[in-house]
Amino acid sequence: MALTANTYDEPTLREPMLPRPFRVISKRSETLDTVTLEFEAADDGPPLAFLPGQFTMLYIYGVGEVPVSISGDSNYPERLIHTVRAVGAVTNAICDLTSGDMVGIRGPFGTGWPTTKGKDLVIVAGGIGLAPVRPLIYHALANRDQYFCLGLAYGSRSPSELLYRSELDEWNERSDFNLQMTVDRGDSTWRGSIGVVTPLIPRLRCEAEETVAVICGPEIMMKVVARALNAGGVSRDNIYLSLERNMKCGIGFCGHCQFGADFICKNGPVFPYSAVARRLGIGSL
Ligand SMILES: Cc1cc2nc3c(=O)[nH]c(=O)nc-3n(C[C@H](O)[C@H](O)[C@H](O)COP(=O)(O)OP(=O)(O)OC[C@H]3O[C@@H](n4cnc5c(N)ncnc54)[C@H](O)[C@@H]3O)c2cc1C
Ligand code: FES
Repeated sequence: MALTANTYDEPTLREPMLPRPFRVISKRSETLDTVTLEFEAADDGPPLAFLPGQFTMLYIYGVGEVPVSISGDSNYPERLIHTVRAVGAVTNAICDLTSGDMVGIRGPFGTGWPTTKGKDLVIVAGGIGLAPVRPLIYHALANRDQYFCLGLAYGSRSPSELLYRSELDEWNERSDFNLQMTVDRGDSTWRGSIGVVTPLIPRLRCEAEETVAVICGPEIMMKVVARALNAGGVSRDNIYLSLERNMKCGIGFCGHCQFGADFICKNGPVFPYSAVARRLGIGSL
């Protein structure tokens, strides 16, 4: 299935600095500090067609604006979904929103995850990093015949910090999707793995030479996982990660997110590992 997204020529991005009004239509707590919000457009504009991996700039009136990945299904762009962890002023204000509240949204912006056909797809996520890869999981499951092996290795600090619990249960039931999970600290309910996410990757049983891998999580985790995947035979060109930096404009104008010769908002946030390894201080491997 061909993926399409807005471009600067399309109506929603003709004025990329002008937020569109969106209304919260549902809210769900994922963990103690993380919520998932669904928004609907409160103007006459089109739905926010997006590619898995893209983000919006989400503006809370009187507080500020932050980049947030779209975590819903790109086949249903009229359902704009964001999962947000409260870490500071703006994200706390987002997590305090309730149904009916209004926000401003610009975007979608940035590059998407690769959706290469005919490959094994390995997805590695840590913590809130599951949110930006969830659209790719939806896409892969909806187009399951385009992939051979398909697996997710997901790590979180504790069982209570796992996102999307009911969906994880559903994915775990599927015979065509290999879900492996680990936590740093278990509790009395946890029967799964304890420790870092890297040892889960071989359990996905994908062929390294045929693998496209995407990684999303804390930067240190992405570096370790990328290095392990590459050491296991996955080409650096076939490993992708999503980088985060402070952003202001989201469209390559202000320079806040500059990362060497790239702007993360415009040339990223998804980059091939081969393009960023040296800049991330991992050397040429
Ligand atoms: C492309 C992109 C996609 C993103 N997608 C999501 C998403 O889907 N869900 C989500 O919850 N967040 C996401 N973020 C991170 C989010 O933008 C930041 O958490 C937010 O900008 C923090 O703003 P604040 O005003 O709440 O906190 P600030 O006051 O700016 O920061 C508060 C504290 O949090 C720390 N902090 C700031 N940013 C981060 C961060 N990214 N990770 C960890 N600590 C941080 C700061 O160092 C500071 O100590 C994304 C960021 C980028 C660049
Ligand atoms: S946020 Fe302005 S250049 Fe990227």
